[in-house]
Amino acid sequence: MYVILDTDPGIDDACAIAAALNEPSLHLLLLSAVGGNVSVENTAKNALRLVEFFGKEVPVAKGCSHPLMQEPRHTAVHGETGMSGYDFPQIRGSFVEEHAVIAMWKAIMQAPEAVTLVAVGPLTNVALLFRMYPEVLTHLDRLVLMGGSDDRGNMTPYAEFNIYVDPEAAQVVFDTCEKHDLPVVLCGLNMTRQAVLTTGDFKDIDQLGRAGHMLASLFSFFYKASQTVGENLDSGARIHDLTTIAYLVHPEYFETKQASVMVDTTMGPARGATVINYRKPKNVTVCQSLDNEKVKVWLKDLLRRIES
Ligand code: BDR
Ligand code: CA
Repeated sequence: MYVILDTDPGIDDACAIAAALNEPSLHLLLLSAVGGNVSVENTAKNALRLVEFFGKEVPVAKGCSHPLMQEPRHTAVHGETGMSGYDFPQIRGSFVEEHAVIAMWKAIMQAPEAVTLVAVGPLTNVALLFRMYPEVLTHLDRLVLMGGSDDRGNMTPYAEFNIYVDPEAAQVVFDTCEKHDLPVVLCGLNMTRQAVLTTGDFKDIDQLGRAGHMLASLFSFFYKASQTVGENLDSGARIHDLTTIAYLVHPEYFETKQASVMVDTTMGPARGATVINYRKPKNVTVCQSLDNEKVKVWLKDLLRRIES
């Protein structure tokens, strides 16, 4: 499966990137960075750090620093750099020269088969891609994204971070996909709240060689930093973004329901909420639950194999 991963690393993004780079059934064409958890300067560097950490050749492109209509908003739980908790070596390589939106367009149009686009940050790059290069829509297989929720949010009572940061971009993306009948898989908070690595899992993962140690160190930081904000967990840390990659490889681990989705772009209290309508099912497959134990077994096996 040919994949592009649009991301704002971010510690759970780092785990998704680690899986996408190392899962044998996926062919990762490009990592495109967007501003989100931290500035795009940092998210792009973090993506490159991970590619170099795993000794891969996947290109990294730097994308949008600002949401379409509002100022950037970042979060502290991933630390100052966005991947605090582990000391990565100095970056050796560089980003591709083009803006991420252009790099995405080229990668999609040149791919030998339809590409699966995965987005785990604010949807700014993806919205611009759809607006600037609508021809990509017939060269995409589907869009799999982490964002939104069919119940409560984590930034406001109804808005989840990735959608809250750029609601206009999210509305462009959902609207375009619906009009073109492009399938969307939504890994929203209503499901990712069940996707947890416990502190016991951190210890297990820490034993799984260099990659496991790196991720366990990041997640330990994330866990402690999350204790200081609203959406904390005593038992461990949520692996929101990883669920998109797990879905690509093991859709059978997820329960889903078909829906149509709109985004609240008003300036009212629900700005950034995803309005998920199960009574008007259309092109969006909304994940309801996952088999967290099976996802963790898959992740641990993957990390174990990297070292062998
Ligand atoms: C999403 O927000 C970010 O902080 C995470 O990386 C994830 O993509 C969860 O709401
Ligand atoms: Ca993210």
